[in-house]
Amino acid sequence: MFLYKEYWYPYIHGIFSFQQHFKAQNSDLILASLPKAGTTWLKALTFAIANRNNYSPSENPLLTTNPHGLVPFLDNAVYGKNPFFKLDDFPSPRILATHVTYSALTSSIGDSTCRVIYVCRNPLDQFISFCHYVAKLLNNPLNPSLIEENFNLMRRGVSPYGPFWDHVLGYWKANQERPDKVLFLKYEDMKEDPVSHFKVLAKFMGFPFFVEEDRQGVVEEILKLCSLDNLKDLEVNKIHKNDVGHPNSAYFRKGDVGDWANYLTPSMAERMNKLMEEKFSDTGLNF
Ligand code: A3P
Repeated sequence: MFLYKEYWYPYIHGIFSFQQHFKAQNSDLILASLPKAGTTWLKALTFAIANRNNYSPSENPLLTTNPHGLVPFLDNAVYGKNPFFKLDDFPSPRILATHVTYSALTSSIGDSTCRVIYVCRNPLDQFISFCHYVAKLLNNPLNPSLIEENFNLMRRGVSPYGPFWDHVLGYWKANQERPDKVLFLKYEDMKEDPVSHFKVLAKFMGFPFFVEEDRQGVVEEILKLCSLDNLKDLEVNKIHKNDVGHPNSAYFRKGDVGDWANYLTPSMAERMNKLMEEKFSDTGLNF
């Protein structure tokens, strides 16, 4: 990984190109997250919310395209491939994603009235999800040495787009200062009460649900479409690969809250929790 301005990046060229070339539009919706924090779910939900009147339920592109194919990463799928990528043809609102820190977003994002939606996740679950993802891409079983090695690195702040705490706090502070600009979501809260968080998300995006839609069951329909069980079972996500050859299935696993307990010892969890308590003390944020 590359250390750039105190953050660790798995690649850097796409990030420079994104910072150099991306011009935000006022209607843009920028999804931000650390890897394995619930990005795929957020992409599916935002796409489905914004396009709910454009497609019949049986024709929704989410049924045939992986969410990452519909909502690309600016620093990777877009500018990572072509620094002069033209995003002008994207239908409005453009829904685009990034893993970079709040401080690394371009000034045009800060200056425009575009909105940023951040999702974060309990660090232990996010970490275990990441280990599974890496093991799957390497086509290896998840082994304790991979967990141990990456766990020690993460505690030192070395994780993709990390340190974890600085990444989360950057967006958290932005949300505290400009709640109309930055929405801050937690994966666990969304799992616990999907309906109310979904409505908050839709309202923030500028696509609130009308009472009539609610009555007709549109909210439940979209939540079901975007659910882990549904997406995971679609042919496109079961057997297809993305354009860099990674299986789409790697993005869908269990989505359980507290799954870390199946992999980390109580002492590892205690060490990480203690560190997080220190890092998040007096911020009003906890996991
Ligand atoms: P687990 O590995 O804990 O199962 P990301 O999308 O940021 O890469 O995060 C991947 C995590 O989100 C994985 O967690 C994955 O199973 C979970 N996930 C993917 N799609 C989801 C969905 N539609 N609803 C809830 N969780 C989802």
